[in-house]
Amino acid sequence: MTQDLWTSVDGYISERLLASDPVLDEALAAADAAGLPPIAITPNQGKLLELLARIHKAESILELGTLGGYSTIWLARALPESGHLITLERDPRYAEVASANLSNAGVADLVEVRVGPALDTLPELYEEGAGPFDLIFIDADKQNYPGYLEWSLKLSRVGTLIIGDNVVRAGAILDSDADDPSFGDGGVAAGVRRFYEILAAEPRMTATAIQTVGAKGHDGFAVALVTAL
Ligand code: SAH
Ligand code: DHB
Ligand code: MG
Repeated sequence: MTQDLWTSVDGYISERLLASDPVLDEALAAADAAGLPPIAITPNQGKLLELLARIHKAESILELGTLGGYSTIWLARALPESGHLITLERDPRYAEVASANLSNAGVADLVEVRVGPALDTLPELYEEGAGPFDLIFIDADKQNYPGYLEWSLKLSRVGTLIIGDNVVRAGAILDSDADDPSFGDGGVAAGVRRFYEILAAEPRMTATAIQTVGAKGHDGFAVALVTAL
């Protein structure tokens, strides 16, 4: 009942405020046909990311966790022609699906899909002198969110906007038992809890998080601004 209501309200909002978008629908359909899990952000969330990137006038974007490139397309569309986006994906098969979707969306020229565990590719980017990025979207494995936040800071400038998906997990973040390595969620809640601890202790960032309900259940976005380096 509650989930049905959240899903219907998401539908109400997107029917009114989001233009119909065959390219994005095709990206989701292609990801589904290729057997990728249905865990992309929702259309309303995608539009929010696009708006935030535009408000921030982002010209360089880093994304952690590509999946089929759905969120990547939303973010890439916010870029000017001279902009660029690097998106990190561990699974080479997902990255292939994403690359095809990005081409179909006409944004392939702006985007590099880099394959490998992000904790390997982030130091590579740093060594190459990539960045600083104007906006960083963290959406890969939640266990590694603490490391992703640390690397994001290294790839930031004062003014970088860091956005983290899945920072509520239906309230699972409240459970301190999750910090025990034997807790049965593979370290997801512990990773997100540690992510908050770093945000709380980190003097170089100021942050909040907003819990959301919608077609993907009860979860949330964290938004952090880098204020000093
Ligand atoms: N941002 C996407 C959804 C990402 S789902 C969207 O909204 O459209 C999370 C993605 O992170 C999955 O594709 C998964 O394969 C990837 N991932 C998981 N662990 C990873 C790691 N260690 N390094 C990079 N990517 C990882
Ligand atoms: C799930 C949702 C996500 O947004 C994500 O990035 C990873 C997993 C999930 O619901 O399992
Ligand atoms: Mg997510």
